[in-house]
Amino acid sequence: MDTKESYAVVTGASQGLGKAFAENLAGKNINVILISLPGQQLKELSRQLEETYRIRAPYYETDLSVNENVLKLTEWLNKSFRIHILINNAGLGGTQKFVEASPAYINTILQVNVTATSLITHQLLPNLLKQPEAYILNVSSMAAFSPIGFKTVYPASKTFIHSFSRGLHEELKDTNVFVSVVNPGAMKTNKDVCKRIEKQGILGKLTLLDPDKVAAYCIRQLFRRDSVIMVNPVSWLVMKILPIWIKLPLMTSAIKKEIEA
Ligand SMILES: NC(=O)c1ccc[n+]([C@@H]2O[C@H](COP(=O)([O-])OP(=O)(O)OC[C@H]3O[C@@H](n4cnc5c(N)ncnc54)[C@H](OP(=O)(O)O)[C@@H]3O)[C@@H](O)[C@H]2O)c1
Repeated sequence: MDTKESYAVVTGASQGLGKAFAENLAGKNINVILISLPGQQLKELSRQLEETYRIRAPYYETDLSVNENVLKLTEWLNKSFRIHILINNAGLGGTQKFVEASPAYINTILQVNVTATSLITHQLLPNLLKQPEAYILNVSSMAAFSPIGFKTVYPASKTFIHSFSRGLHEELKDTNVFVSVVNPGAMKTNKDVCKRIEKQGILGKLTLLDPDKVAAYCIRQLFRRDSVIMVNPVSWLVMKILPIWIKLPLMTSAIKKEIEA
């Protein structure tokens, strides 16, 4: 399809996997709308993508943990652009004893990972349905496949994303909108993530992924209409085979090392 007048939306686009998605799409001559928190040098990234790839890369800075912001963002997107790709990448987690977590920590994870993803998808769907061909990619996590102590809310939020995406895929399968979900394992996205993975020991390091490679693979598979994109098939198989009574304590003790280190 002619994508000159149409746009891809990427949330959490300033760094890590989101930035890799934006660069990959721009490299395919697809206009990309960059969304991130304020103060993340989005303007520079936008200019760099526009100059390097000769595409359009408008940007919008907002905190997605506030519902009102999400609705303002989607209103602006629907008013201004034809959208044929939506990548719900923004998401965050952390490692804490649940009793010590602040209400803001719990609320932000749920708002960004669960509510913003659902609302953005809901609000942009009429726009996507109007395009000849459209794609939604939701970023879940390998953590979706097991509850994990000391992470609690994060894996639960990613299980939601996995289930939500598969349900929506089925609901929209006879339309022009193709829905996919990816469940990556740990990636070298930022210093914080790398430090945390170091503390998990060998299990964490063994499965570490490169975000550029993950993004490239995901986009390729999305266009090939792969509804559940597996970037670490071996870890996925292990997670599927292991019964809960083995994987739950195993994962929890690996994560506990982060707190103890
Ligand atoms: N890194 C990993 O090991 C790993 C593994 C599995 C799954 N994932 C998932 O992959 C996605 C990207 O992760 P990442 O590691 O690249 O990101 P990251 O470096 O951990 O940064 C957090 C992401 O969420 C966005 N974000 C956080 N709070 C936000 C808020 N209040 N409003 C708007 N955006 C907010 C950030 O966007 P900006 O900074 O651009 O504002 C950024 O994209 C997430 O959904 C994550 O759960 C990551």
